[in-house]
Amino acid sequence: MKVGIIGSGGREHAICDALAKSKKINQIYCFPGNAGTAQLAKNIDIDLSDFDQIKNFVKEKNIDLVVVGPEKPLVEGIVDFFQKNNIKVFGPNKVASQLEGSKIFTKKLCQKYNIPTAKFNIFESIDEAIKFINEIKFPLVIKADGLASGKGVYICEDKKNAVNSLEEIFNGKFGIAKNVLIEEFLVGEEMSYFVVSDGKTIKDFQTAQDHKRVLEGDRGKNTGGMGAYSPSRLISKDLRKKILNKIINPTLKALSEMDCKYKGFLYAGLIIVNNEPYLIEYNVRMGDPECQTILPKLKTDLFEIMHACCEENLLNLKIEWYDKKSLCIVLCSKGYPDEYKKNILINNLEKINLKENEYVYHAGTKTNGNKIYSNGGRVLNFVCLSNNYKESRIKIINLIKSLNWSNGFFRKDIGYKVINE
Ligand code: AMP
Ligand code: GLY
Repeated sequence: MKVGIIGSGGREHAICDALAKSKKINQIYCFPGNAGTAQLAKNIDIDLSDFDQIKNFVKEKNIDLVVVGPEKPLVEGIVDFFQKNNIKVFGPNKVASQLEGSKIFTKKLCQKYNIPTAKFNIFESIDEAIKFINEIKFPLVIKADGLASGKGVYICEDKKNAVNSLEEIFNGKFGIAKNVLIEEFLVGEEMSYFVVSDGKTIKDFQTAQDHKRVLEGDRGKNTGGMGAYSPSRLISKDLRKKILNKIINPTLKALSEMDCKYKGFLYAGLIIVNNEPYLIEYNVRMGDPECQTILPKLKTDLFEIMHACCEENLLNLKIEWYDKKSLCIVLCSKGYPDEYKKNILINNLEKINLKENEYVYHAGTKTNGNKIYSNGGRVLNFVCLSNNYKESRIKIINLIKSLNWSNGFFRKDIGYKVINE
């Protein structure tokens, strides 16, 4: 079989690595991939917004299955487009992808189906929104409606901050804003909960906890993710039951009432308050870097899972996992998430001595000749599985030190809530 993977981050390298292990697959193409995927697959430099061009390539090479990694093409309807062209594709369609593409769509769905979430209001003008914030308690959370690469969320401590955020959103920082969401600030602990669905059956796809802030102690600016670990320390049988019964199942029921089957990975971003789950956001894909911690624990062939989803046959497949503690630390370019330099040589990669259960997944890297250069803010993901988080973290930090990349920085405290120093 031939598979195509859309995307170029650490998540896509981890997916590529898992698929490359499948005995059923003999060729992988990555659109456009990175220097890591280039070692396992053929990278195709293609514009991801040009669906026609991707389709033509997929047809020409007789690719059997296309896997969509990131949210943007999903929200833009790549799945519907491929299906119309008789191409097998793993991921949710455009209607289902509104769960991530529009926060207001999801909030309204929560309201209609009684799904626990932070209390909220939607405003269509800045004046209405300011009138509202004059009357309520701080802190509060202000969110732009559409996709904003994780940047459209403001936690506001006071009115000045809130007015600034509203001005940024209505002035179009995240695209034309017809409305804005203001919600109550929930106090609790976050958790990422993943399922995979074929439209009829859902199966658990592990839990994780990511660290979004750039500085140690979860301080500083938000990033795409500085590290993660799996499983979350919060998960229990009882909590799992609540998440499925109160959040995931009603969401899938709501979609089915819209005549929509959810196929693909679904990622619920939750805040757990006194052992009760509240939905903060949905993502219609795997998390990054959560995916890099989860896939190395997977025993079952990932291709079998994706294929079963496309065939609506997930019920008959048992998904098995290694019972390990998995941790990921992201090595970033100095300056990230603000200005940073690209094209910096990474010259010790081939010398890193990876032992069993140790992985390096590339993100912002590219190949030039036979050398590897940085090509983004988040550059490499170091992952280790072991019997405890502390051991995983020590091993990773040693690997990063052995790389000794002069332009890199990373958080040494990933997993601090599950590691006793
Ligand atoms: P999101 O992009 O919706 O995941 O939001 C980014 C981050 O903002 C989340 O990971 C949370 O840390 C925080 N956040 C979002 N909404 C709330 C809320 N209602 N209460 C507390 N924190 C929130
Ligand atoms: N780790 C957060 C995300 O993938 O959106």
